[in-house]
Amino acid sequence: MITARLTLDPAFAVGEVDPRLFGSFVEHMGRCVYTGIFEPGHPAADADGLRTDVLELVRELGVSLVRYPGGNFVSNYRWEDGVGPVGDRPRRLDLAWRSLESNAFGLNEFMRWAGQAQVAPMMAVNLGTRGVPEAAELVEYCNLSDGTAAADLRRKHGVAQPHDIRLWCLGNEMDGPWQIGNLTAREYGRLAARAGHAMRRVDPSIELVACGSSNADMPTFAAWEATVLEEAYDQVDYLSLHTYYDPAKHDESSFRASAVDLDGFVDDIIATADHVRAKLRRGKRINLALDEWNVWYQSQFTEPEDRGIEDLPALIEDDYTVTDAMVVGNLLISMLRHADRLKIGCQAQLVNIIAPIRTRAGGPAWRQTIFHPFAHTARLARGTVLRAALTGPTMATGRFGDVPAVDAVATRDEASGELTIFAVNRGTEAVPLELDLRAFPGLRAGEHIALAETDPSIVNTAAAPDRVRARTEEMPALDGGRATVLLPPVSWHALRFTSEEKP
Ligand code: AHR
Repeated sequence: MITARLTLDPAFAVGEVDPRLFGSFVEHMGRCVYTGIFEPGHPAADADGLRTDVLELVRELGVSLVRYPGGNFVSNYRWEDGVGPVGDRPRRLDLAWRSLESNAFGLNEFMRWAGQAQVAPMMAVNLGTRGVPEAAELVEYCNLSDGTAAADLRRKHGVAQPHDIRLWCLGNEMDGPWQIGNLTAREYGRLAARAGHAMRRVDPSIELVACGSSNADMPTFAAWEATVLEEAYDQVDYLSLHTYYDPAKHDESSFRASAVDLDGFVDDIIATADHVRAKLRRGKRINLALDEWNVWYQSQFTEPEDRGIEDLPALIEDDYTVTDAMVVGNLLISMLRHADRLKIGCQAQLVNIIAPIRTRAGGPAWRQTIFHPFAHTARLARGTVLRAALTGPTMATGRFGDVPAVDAVATRDEASGELTIFAVNRGTEAVPLELDLRAFPGLRAGEHIALAETDPSIVNTAAAPDRVRARTEEMPALDGGRATVLLPPVSWHALRFTSEEKP
């Protein structure tokens, strides 16, 4: 066994943890909304049809922010269809997923759900089939108090107080040929600038996210980002990036090392955004919103063109393994490592669709394996992110060459003095991890939470919902600021230390 060594120091500060890194995503797709978060008649549904069993799990997951209503769905969505008396709402054909949309759940229902779930909304506007006036009017409906047609319409719909939505996405994946109304970078950049300008005339305090590339394999990747920012730099605050990791796309060890790819993807976009900043001679920096990310068995996906039109199809309800959960934990480590520029993260999606929470219509809700690293990271990552200096064994991958088997990052909460190390062993051999925390006098061993199973291919199901869960392990005491923890193969860990002294 080769030992890995991790050293931390308060001087290795990266940036502050933005709680919005622990966001999620609810799209009108498959069974995410209907029979996911909303199911009138379900034994656990409240008077509004919101599933309280799912709400409880969402709060336990620690989600801070939820992007809504899409995704590809938003690019052919009329927000007006989803407000007002439910009996008057039209039944539409959604072109993104070729599904039937009843519109029984819309904006005001979502905002009621967000209040119950204790999450902030991140609202997307349709820049596929619609444009500037509809986007501005949606901000007016949501954020103005009264005295304009759209604000008064909201009041007529029974919502007296404005929703006061702070964060807005200017469309979704507009570079993708699959996107309804997809555009060239120049066309989209101009439209995003014009829509953003009008939306900010309604409410100057909102924050705006422009679409980056749908993924790093897009032929226009990086050129897209540069062109969009050349057109919309002054109007936007964030550039989005999306990435999904498919266990079947490369060799298995490359999949386990997916965070290596995310590290590079984020670095490339930061470099591109800063290049445009220099070119335009601007002072402000554009930060990043990773507003879709996850493991997705994408090679098993059937394209909408190859399916019939369906009502509530069970789309991409992937079952996640322990390996998938380790990869998700490692992607969160990568996100924290970029906390200086990456401010928003939305795991896609929240319920049923490639999700940490699954449900049966009329039946139970349960936690998938990936629920656990997310929930513990969201709960424990507080304060300042500290880069970890690491040495140790490497593992061979087909895609990235030799990479470190162990990856880690830490956060330190200045208020309480608590320090938490998030670590993964992405290799297939156990690794002793030696911690050197001498730079933090007065630390005491707190809790060790681990996700590790002898068989990393097992999953949770409705019949065995807690087969895989994070367990509390024994935490070795610190001896002169040092301790050693054994990391089993393919495992995720949170190591929390409390402080005797306030920093
Ligand atoms: O999350 C599923 C889909 O993946 C989203 O609708 C789209 O934005 C992405 O391609």
